[in-house]
Amino acid sequence: IPKLFTQCLEENSQNPIPFSTTFFTPQNNASFTSVLESTAQNLRYLLPSMTKPEFIFTPLEDSHVQAAVLCAKKLKIHMRVRSGGHDYEGLSFVSLIEKPFMIIDLAKLRAIQVDIAHNTAWVEVGATLGEVYYRISEKSPVHAYPAGVCPSVGVGGHITGGGYGSLHRKYGLAADNVINARIVDANGKILDREAMGEGLFWAIRGGGGGSFGIILSWQIKLVQVPPIVTVFTLTKTLEQDANKILHKWQQVAPNIDEDLFFMVQMRAVNSSTPGKRTVQTSYIGRYLGRANRLLRLMAEKFPELGLSKKDCLETSWIKSVPYIYGFPNTTSPEILIQRTISDKVYMKNKVDYMRQVIPESALNSMWKRFMQDDEPMMVWVPYGGMMTRISESTLPYPHRKGVLFKSQYIARWYDGEKSMKKHMNWVRRFYDFMAPYASRFPREAYVNYRDLDLGMNQFNGTSFLRSSTWGFKYFKDNFIRLVKVKSEVDPSNLFRHEQSIPPLPLES
Ligand code: FDA
Repeated sequence: IPKLFTQCLEENSQNPIPFSTTFFTPQNNASFTSVLESTAQNLRYLLPSMTKPEFIFTPLEDSHVQAAVLCAKKLKIHMRVRSGGHDYEGLSFVSLIEKPFMIIDLAKLRAIQVDIAHNTAWVEVGATLGEVYYRISEKSPVHAYPAGVCPSVGVGGHITGGGYGSLHRKYGLAADNVINARIVDANGKILDREAMGEGLFWAIRGGGGGSFGIILSWQIKLVQVPPIVTVFTLTKTLEQDANKILHKWQQVAPNIDEDLFFMVQMRAVNSSTPGKRTVQTSYIGRYLGRANRLLRLMAEKFPELGLSKKDCLETSWIKSVPYIYGFPNTTSPEILIQRTISDKVYMKNKVDYMRQVIPESALNSMWKRFMQDDEPMMVWVPYGGMMTRISESTLPYPHRKGVLFKSQYIARWYDGEKSMKKHMNWVRRFYDFMAPYASRFPREAYVNYRDLDLGMNQFNGTSFLRSSTWGFKYFKDNFIRLVKVKSEVDPSNLFRHEQSIPPLPLES
């Protein structure tokens, strides 16, 4: 297959392709493993038991991507598309349902052109969010882009699924701030917004990656941030009234001034009593303004948190980005252009959208379940603000008005297959436990937090009925429109994976 594919690429590419630096097979190339592993974020999908691709192609220009699509179609080779490799279920570099397969890895297409005069930028999909934030800040300290918290996430996958972050309460999602895109469609053609039409342009801004074509670049809208912002971290353990404060947070964080974003990270830590563990809740926030105004706001709305001047740090927007992600406040923004700054671990994540406050009385039994894992993690991200003002059908991402916060459950481990079952079971049991508090009909989920527990397409076949089980959770009623767009733009289902949007069956 690799030989046929390179021949086909040569025939179909406008410009010559240097195969020695762009084409990697396990047999002929010592770099194959390092390229495969380079951006793969979830180590669970690099375990020896996972099927490896036949080859990896890393295009250097748009016409290489076009040629790769045409050749995949002609030679009937199943493809996976990777930008930043952060897919929770490894769908960009592993195929569980179809073999053999190959990877088109877009990591080398990562140019960023910032146009401050027009408040826009063109960003190629292989760029990371950190690179985007950094390149914008090189041009202006008061411009930003509202996207994810983790700097190593790829722009390609992120925007296709929505993309929330520390600015979504003020400006909406990454996808809400896209004004144009360039995509290679199932016929190998490059289309911009005008050429693709509003249906496809709608679908690629939140309908999930890997279903509609290969995005080459996004034109994004820049937003305003003040020259000085204030960041803070405050921790409370169970012994420090954590439950009371967390109960109040659920009511305050989604409703407070949208210049303020403060999330809660929860972990198990050693308590002051030897041999005992407790829960630590960390409130990590950024306010788009000076500390004195933030302190006044918190004194009025959330005095229980006890935020004081010594907890606050005034800094620039760009320095606040690594801080919010968890780096010390002395970290230089240059870290954002190191593409591999997140620790890689074995993990399984699940998510809920919460539309009602979890009663204080339920929190203790929640902690009992939470503490059953070795390194449990839970992250609550507040919604509200701008998220409530964009309708559910404006884009495929429907989790808007009425969502108080997103609740993510994370199992992490370090010894590969050895303890995998135990941790996976824990996070699944915890998710089951949270059901009474989560959104219902459907129990909503986030397509950028792929979760194959919700269901999977079968080998070489998708069905509307089967994919409805996860489709309505990710997209609510927008799922139906996504299926219609898919049926129009990719009726033969060239772009497919375990949870891709199905086309309606072709009429015979
Ligand atoms: P990757 O390359 O793995 O692609 C993800 C999916 O999109 C795959 O199905 C892939 O085939 C497809 N795809 C990739 N490039 C494409 C392209 N050019 N055209 C079409 N399809 C393409 N999310 C969030 O909203 N806010 C956050 O703060 C975070 N933080 C975060 C931290 C960490 C450590 C992880 C692992 C993940 C997150 N995420 C997140 C989730 C993240 O947004 C999600 O996994 C994105 O899809 C990742 O995009 P990548 O390009 O990195 O992934």
